[in-house]
Amino acid sequence: MTDPVRLHDRYPELGNGNLPVAPYIDPAYYDLEKKYLFKRTWLHVGRVEEIARVGDYVVRELPVLDSSIIIARDRSRQVRAYHNVCSHRLNRVAYEPAGNTRKFFCKFHGWAYDLDGSLSGVPDEKSFINFDKKCYGLTPVSVDTWNGFIFINLDPNPSVSLKDFMEPMYAGFEDYPFEKFTACYSWNAVVGCNWKVALDAFQETYHVGYVHGRSIAYALLKDEDGNLHPIDGICGTHHRRLSIAGDPDTVYGNPQAATAAADRDVGHNQVGHKIAAKALKVAQGGTKLDFSDMKLPEKLNWTKHSTWAFDINVVFPDFYLSCRPNYFQAYNFRPVAHNKTLFEARVYYPEMATSGGRFYQEYMKTALRDVLLEDLSTLESTQRAAETGAKQEMVIQDFELMVRHQAVVIDRLIEEGLRRDGQLQAAE
Ligand code: FES
Ligand SMILES: [Fe+2]
Repeated sequence: MTDPVRLHDRYPELGNGNLPVAPYIDPAYYDLEKKYLFKRTWLHVGRVEEIARVGDYVVRELPVLDSSIIIARDRSRQVRAYHNVCSHRLNRVAYEPAGNTRKFFCKFHGWAYDLDGSLSGVPDEKSFINFDKKCYGLTPVSVDTWNGFIFINLDPNPSVSLKDFMEPMYAGFEDYPFEKFTACYSWNAVVGCNWKVALDAFQETYHVGYVHGRSIAYALLKDEDGNLHPIDGICGTHHRRLSIAGDPDTVYGNPQAATAAADRDVGHNQVGHKIAAKALKVAQGGTKLDFSDMKLPEKLNWTKHSTWAFDINVVFPDFYLSCRPNYFQAYNFRPVAHNKTLFEARVYYPEMATSGGRFYQEYMKTALRDVLLEDLSTLESTQRAAETGAKQEMVIQDFELMVRHQAVVIDRLIEEGLRRDGQLQAAE
């Protein structure tokens, strides 16, 4: 009998040994991640629909950047980002997590800033000496958008544009109708674990048969031994992707549910829990827009698997984007401390036009909530166990390659950063 093809064989440069536990528990390693990853790369902070109108803004508190960042739409409809720090004596200028405003006013001495960040009003300006208002705007932060997702970069001169950062892995995603999925629901949770412990639980399928054994495991495609292997995985310079197959006779494993035209024969033999089966049946043709003939990007389901269900895309470092023909999930695993993470889950659906569609959407919302609770259930105890020092290494199987890829990329970036800063001798 020949050995199955291994994902690891395609990426020999990633190695195949055990992974060290230290990067998950060491505060000094976390400081290096902040300095050499998070403060120097593009980070997803939201979607353009959140600041659709002139004057709309959101404030992102990002402990991993030691910063509070305002993202706003200015009068020329351009998306701007700047530090939430007044140029006078450093008070904040935005106080709500989101809103609409004509200007940002500092509540300490009343300085006013326009939506483009320029300083426009200074009470008793004549009492300042050699003062030029033009020099004291809010400190800008690099910002750009990719398919409606807003990214910021704390590096004032990013070494790579957002386009060049995304394209090696995600060129072609502009054909995905992100903007048509306008019904959004979300959950946030602060979890007592390292951000990588949390993200790892979402970038492998090995756990599905166990953690999700009583919820969604039945809906995903298993081999004859009952193991849930991804169809394929791709590791890039930064990002990574996994492709997953499902059972189209289940509501969770059918990527066309709700979007198919009503005369399509979707899920006629639905399996699984009774309510789930009902949700699949009544969902047919439930969306306002008919997505049944939608042309998806070639790069989704890149193996062209017949029962492909969804792709998991991990946009480095902490953005998880799972795209399906009928909805997408956008999660962030935002580090708060070396052992604390803010998990932000957002799910975007098309608007439903029928009561069946609404039922499907509510079912999926509740089902996903339960699945997420299952995913989160192991994280804090894993972190505590890691911190006992009982184990110095973790064992990784072939389909946990993405966990390994993440560790290797982070190590590489930290090493490059230390070398640039002269803190590490160049390799012999
Ligand atoms: S600190 Fe903002 S006006 Fe003084
Ligand atoms: Fe899971």
